[in-house]
Amino acid sequence: MDQPRAVLFDAYGTLFDVYSVGLLAEQLFPGQGTALSVLWRDKQIEYTRLVTTSNDGAHYRPFWDLTRAGLRFACKRLGLELAPAAEEQLMNQYRHLSAFPENREVLAALKKRGVVTGILSNGDPEMLGIAVRSAGLEELLDHVISVDAVRKYKTHPDAYALGPKATGIPVQHTAFVSCNAWDALAATWYGYRTLWVNRYRVPFEELGTQPTRTGSTLRDVLEFF
Ligand code: LAC
Repeated sequence: MDQPRAVLFDAYGTLFDVYSVGLLAEQLFPGQGTALSVLWRDKQIEYTRLVTTSNDGAHYRPFWDLTRAGLRFACKRLGLELAPAAEEQLMNQYRHLSAFPENREVLAALKKRGVVTGILSNGDPEMLGIAVRSAGLEELLDHVISVDAVRKYKTHPDAYALGPKATGIPVQHTAFVSCNAWDALAATWYGYRTLWVNRYRVPFEELGTQPTRTGSTLRDVLEFF
């Protein structure tokens, strides 16, 4: 098979460590940091599906708003009192998530090969812009694509369609990289060549389709070449 001409990355969970908020959560709510960060993430993603699949997207809200809603839910569910100052602190931390350490070298290696690089994310443009700048990745990414353009979250096909539309490179010549199994699966269904980065050593989805490749860090994307 030809080498991919473009590589698009999921952002949250793939380039940026969403569980890094767990440290601050642990300081604010001792003993509950991990539970809060996991439930927060799950609820955030559940809300993306809820608004995309209901009433033709009439309830769409940007990812930032759904992230805040997910935080509020997770705290209530765990019986934690979320003071406004703590909410702002956690949301601000979400804005500046840690980037995984290998990101830069992998993106630089792709650029060196002349591969088109980008992000294709549920994040809204403002969140993504801040995260990319905080991590110093601007000059290594040709495209930062937000599903906000179609107001539909992944795994809606219109969201995945934004990739080839932005790069001008057909989906079958584009690799999509995600640490989220559901995202790697749906991108495979859409027609991308996919790398699922299994950072947390969890099983892949049991729906009969496998990603093109499975790896353990972003570096594994270089095996497409
Ligand atoms: C994203 C979420 C799904 O960045 O992690 O699209």
